[in-house]
Amino acid sequence: MGRIAEEKIDEIRNRTDIVEVVSSYLPLKHSGVNHQGLCPFHQEKTPSFNVNSARQIFHCFGCGVGGNVFSFLMRMEGMSFPDAVRRLGEKVGVEVEEEAVSPDEIRRREERERIMRINEVAGGFYHQLLLEDEAGVLGRRYLRQRGYEGETVRAFKLGFAPEGWETLAKHLADKNFSSGDVQKAGLVRPGKQDRGHYDLCRNRLLFPIHDLQGQMVAFGGRVLDDSLPKYINSPETAVYHKGQTLYGLYQARDAMRHSGEALVVEGYFDVLALHRAGFSGTVATCGTALTADHARLLKRYADKILLVFDADTAGRKATVRAMDALLPVGLAVSVVAMPVGEDPDSLIKAEGEDGFRNCLDAARPVLEVFIEDQLRINDQSVEGRARAAEQALERIRRLPGDLERSLYLQRLAELTNLDVELLKSKVSGGSLVQASPRRPVAQSLSARRPLTETGQTQKYLLRLMLIDDQQRCRVREEGTEGLFLDDLFRGLADYLLGCENEDGQLPEDLFDASLDEAQQSLLASLKFQEDQQWADNPEKILTDCRLAVSKYLLKQRLKEVGRLEEEARNSNDEAALMQYLRERIEINQKLKKKL
Ligand code: UTP
Ligand code: MN
Repeated sequence: MGRIAEEKIDEIRNRTDIVEVVSSYLPLKHSGVNHQGLCPFHQEKTPSFNVNSARQIFHCFGCGVGGNVFSFLMRMEGMSFPDAVRRLGEKVGVEVEEEAVSPDEIRRREERERIMRINEVAGGFYHQLLLEDEAGVLGRRYLRQRGYEGETVRAFKLGFAPEGWETLAKHLADKNFSSGDVQKAGLVRPGKQDRGHYDLCRNRLLFPIHDLQGQMVAFGGRVLDDSLPKYINSPETAVYHKGQTLYGLYQARDAMRHSGEALVVEGYFDVLALHRAGFSGTVATCGTALTADHARLLKRYADKILLVFDADTAGRKATVRAMDALLPVGLAVSVVAMPVGEDPDSLIKAEGEDGFRNCLDAARPVLEVFIEDQLRINDQSVEGRARAAEQALERIRRLPGDLERSLYLQRLAELTNLDVELLKSKVSGGSLVQASPRRPVAQSLSARRPLTETGQTQKYLLRLMLIDDQQRCRVREEGTEGLFLDDLFRGLADYLLGCENEDGQLPEDLFDASLDEAQQSLLASLKFQEDQQWADNPEKILTDCRLAVSKYLLKQRLKEVGRLEEEARNSNDEAALMQYLRERIEINQKLKKKL
């Protein structure tokens, strides 16, 4: 991958004004040293979104997001870092040429561009046919029958692929696209023997799938009658990855950002139906299960997800898979139960918007529904309930919030009649052991271990590191592992140390693409508090941080020793038992002294 030269990035940043960029998305008002507005990343009525012109950063005191002008664009537009740099570069007239791009990479990039272009031309062609061409009459009739007209058709750029084997292939050849490229775009298939390429979709209604920039990258095509297959979808291509794409997200994300909620449904038509009925924050997966990438994508725009899947076995399976992808990234997930045999499109047709709204109002937390399902599947014996509990614990363990974990443990205890303390010990046992082989895959995908209570102290230390070169030097000498208990904070501390120039000072702008979103937000919040009073003494902050880490390690060891003791007792190993007993007493004394 080619990298954009640092100097270019600096130049673009220097020529850009974050206040101006943000203002092009939302109105800002001057307020003290900052500019304020309603946060575009969460729903609020009073402005807590701040932009600081002097520091060229933003931070929302409501939802905690923050960063510099590049982070703002990345979040707002769902762009990658290089794309954000390029976009701003265009605006301020700095051309971004990249260094050291291999010829292979250039070839790949050019091919991607050609494929993009082909999709765009194909989509425009199909859309035009559906809107007004003689050849599109069947598609228009079908849509009208199902109650869809003008506005929805335009918003989603629906299209129609007419009868005929080579309608699209010919059109694209006329535009001088090579058949090889068109095939790579997934729009045609090679014919047998000497026959030419033929269109993937014929006599089908087309749903173009957009990327976050609104470019078409793939298509789903539905038959107009009952023949099979009902849908034909574009294959994966250089520009289309099903596991990272959500149908309708481009059209839905503003609504999601404003309500903080996302509806996830199963079908293309369900997205249309809900959009038309005013539930605009709706997306569907593209014929695959919901992935961790999808979850992260949704988390950019919403913090609550409503799953609206069919009330059949497949739907229930899809719900569990979605839950397993969504909960670990810290999204609140609820299940909207559909009447048997209905999907949102058919329900709204039968019972109107109110019918669907009633279902929405009756949405229930996914984990609760899951636990009940498990209890139903397993029998009522102690063993059956334990099996159900085990399934639930697996999920509870992955919840990133302490509070939520504890609430669900209580609920699980109620539902299973199992002892809450026992359940608790099972949960902590599972997640505190580092890199346990039993740990489910999704856990490693969850961003980080949840923050500990000493977060505030660690934040103080980070602030110290930001403003005091000497203290930063001490942190370097002492090592961040012994001072920062939480991964998030330690990661940022390590990053700051890596930022120092030869004179041991931090550069003016600290934001960098290597910081993830949580780190950027944290950094912005710290920078916003930079001039606040500094009553605390650095010595105490360092000591407190150090203590938090050693206390945590001692407690870990204590758990371990407890287990070893048990083992020694079971195997009648007196000597070992004595040794562990002594260690336990020692640790307890140490812990007491420090409190
Ligand atoms: P459904 O069979 O529920 O179709 O498939 P639908 O979306 O409700 O469409 P209508 O209302 O009958 O017209 C749900 C989704 O599963 C994928 C599509 O994404 C579809 O929207 N699917 C279904 C396929 O990819 N291929 C198929 O053959 C069927
Ligand atoms: Mn349907």
